[in-house]
Order: sequence, then structure tokens, then C-alpha cells
Amino acid sequence: MKYRGIVFDLDGVICSTDHYHYLAWKALADRLGVYFDETINNRLRGVSRMASLDIILERYDGQMSPEEKMQAAEEKNNCYRELLRQMSPADLAPEVKTTLDALRAKGLLLGIGSSSKNAKFILGQIGLGDYFDRVSDGTNISRSKPDPEVFLKAAEFLRLKPSDCLVVEDAKAGIEAAKAAGMDSAAIGDAVSCGLATYNLTCFSELLNCVE
Ligand code: BG6
Ligand code: MG
Repeated sequence: MKYRGIVFDLDGVICSTDHYHYLAWKALADRLGVYFDETINNRLRGVSRMASLDIILERYDGQMSPEEKMQAAEEKNNCYRELLRQMSPADLAPEVKTTLDALRAKGLLLGIGSSSKNAKFILGQIGLGDYFDRVSDGTNISRSKPDPEVFLKAAEFLRLKPSDCLVVEDAKAGIEAAKAAGMDSAAIGDAVSCGLATYNLTCFSELLNCVE
């Protein structure tokens, strides 16, 4: 086996939360009178909450104090969490679950490496609350992707060397973070076009071909 563990990004890899992020940021942008669309939303992939707010405020006609920014981010997050309550185990694609089970059956450790502070809540909503061996997320890091911190922590939590881990990512920032951590990476969806990953997947189950 080429690896001893796999570290999965959550949003856009294990499940899709893009639309909920979009709706919550859109509600905030509308209230602030800022233009926001799906293309700008795509730039928020893998980016931390506060860095996402800065991208949205590029079009804001005014100044916000650090306190006002914190309030705006909290407003978005409250709306986002309300939307996440709609998620259920039905939002976990059968292909994702069967592939995870097959990887685990090969003896691989499975971890999460997500920038989100809502990662554990989302995992609970989709029925994977206790599934992963370790979770490294936005609550245990101080620097967001493309910094490698979230993946290095995941390896440390799994008690594995970074070079024994494969990262699965849908964001260019995440592929860059994996590289900086000294880990191989498998790109899926949006991240394929950056051309920086060790493997490019056309579907989740292709991961099984990357590990041996
Ligand atoms: C990432 C998403 O997983 O988490 C980003 O791709 C998001 O779009 C980031 O901004 C932070 O999420 P949260 O849930 O902590 O606001
Ligand atoms: Mg992602």
C-alpha cells in the first residue's frame, strides 16, 4: 500500500455545502448592498470564513471596523448553520460511503482536514459523526489553506508521517496546502483544473486506484 492514511477535505469532497454557503453569503451581501454571485462564491472554496468575508467586501462601498466584520461573519454563520439543519444522511452519496468503507477495509486510517469550524456539525448531519478516525478542522488551526497546518495536524492526530498520507481536495488552495505539507494529493471537481495534484479524479471511487 502506498499510504497509511487518507485525509479528506469535507466541503466539496465528502458532501456538498456550496449552495448553503452561497445562500448565507448572498443574504449578507444583499443586506450590505454588495454584488455577489456564484462565480465569486467559487473563489471562497477552501478559504476561511474571515478571508471569505474579505473577498465579499472587495465590492463594499465603505469601511468596516474589526468588530463589525466579526458581527457580519457571525450573521452569515448563523444563517449558514440554520440551512445546514436541512442536511441528512441522504446528502451522503452512496459512492462516497462505499468507497470510504472499501478504503478502511484495506487498513487505511481515515481523517478529515477541513478549514470549517462547522465540520463536526456537518459530519453529524450526514450520519458520519463517529466515522472518521480523527478530525482536524477550523477549530484547531490558526492559519487556513494554502497553509499546510490543517493537514499537518490531521497527520499528527492520526499519528502518521505526512509522507504516509494522501489528501483528497476540491480546492486549489487545498492542493497547495497538501504539497506544502509534503503529502500527495488527489484532486476532484474544481481542483482538477489547477494541474498541481498527484492524481486527478473524475469520480470519488477512482480513489481506490490511487492507494495501491
Ligand atoms: C471550507 C469551505 O471548507 O470552510 C469554505 O470550502 C469556508 O468555503 C470554510 O469558508 C470555512 O467554513 P466555516 O464553516 O468555518 O464558515
Ligand atoms: Mg473543499
